[in-house]
Amino acid sequence: LARGVREPDLTGRHVVISAGGTREPLDPVRFLGNRSSGKQGYALARTAAARGARVTLIAANAGLPDPAGVDVVPVGTAVQLREAVLKAAADADAVVMAAAVADFRPQTYAAGKIKKKDGEEPAPVVLVRNPDILAELSADRARPNQVVVGFAAETDDVLANGRTKLRRKGCDLLVVNEVGERRTFGSEENEAVVLGADGSETPVAHGPKEALADIVWDLVAQRLS
Ligand code: CTP
Ligand code: CA
Repeated sequence: LARGVREPDLTGRHVVISAGGTREPLDPVRFLGNRSSGKQGYALARTAAARGARVTLIAANAGLPDPAGVDVVPVGTAVQLREAVLKAAADADAVVMAAAVADFRPQTYAAGKIKKKDGEEPAPVVLVRNPDILAELSADRARPNQVVVGFAAETDDVLANGRTKLRRKGCDLLVVNEVGERRTFGSEENEAVVLGADGSETPVAHGPKEALADIVWDLVAQRLS
């Protein structure tokens, strides 16, 4: 096989991928968001489809073209993403949470646009916690052998933070990226370490997001076989 071309080793498998970043509305025109481009999640969807999987892509505000042969479910908020992922995960062999899920959402949504008032300071925005979808997926597996994968962007002690997060989430694999000024967000390339709940550590050299995606699917396929 040519480099970068894999066997169709995911044939007959259903994989669910979340991608992009959730937006938490304040009013009809404003939201709290994040800088996730969705490119890593879309690369995971394309590579899984190329390896023969049936792919459901839960897409949060990515603004990217639908990959060919992939079932795309658009969502906006973390709560909507949770609903869509749990539904699709019911018969999935693997779930990969590549989406950047907002940790908090505004407590209240103003049905009309929030307006300035002369001589008045703005009201503070009160935030509440969003559900932790990855922890929930990991704790209540829809299938006994389902493989659950998370992503984490870390600074400082990247590996130690990653190990702690893997344990806290209870997932099988955690893809840990180091983030800094110009790294990862919106870029075409990625560099990472994939940590396994079994103690494994798979370094991934700087390269295209497809290459990282294929390594994730290699590790998933090992765990499914
Ligand atoms: N995640 C999730 N639900 C949330 C927050 C995060 O499912 N409410 C998932 C992300 O999709 C990602 C993984 O958890 O796969 C790690 O996200 P991260 O933001 O690094 O984890 P947090 O637990 O939110 O930790 P932190 O306080 O460092 O942001
Ligand atoms: Ca977070």
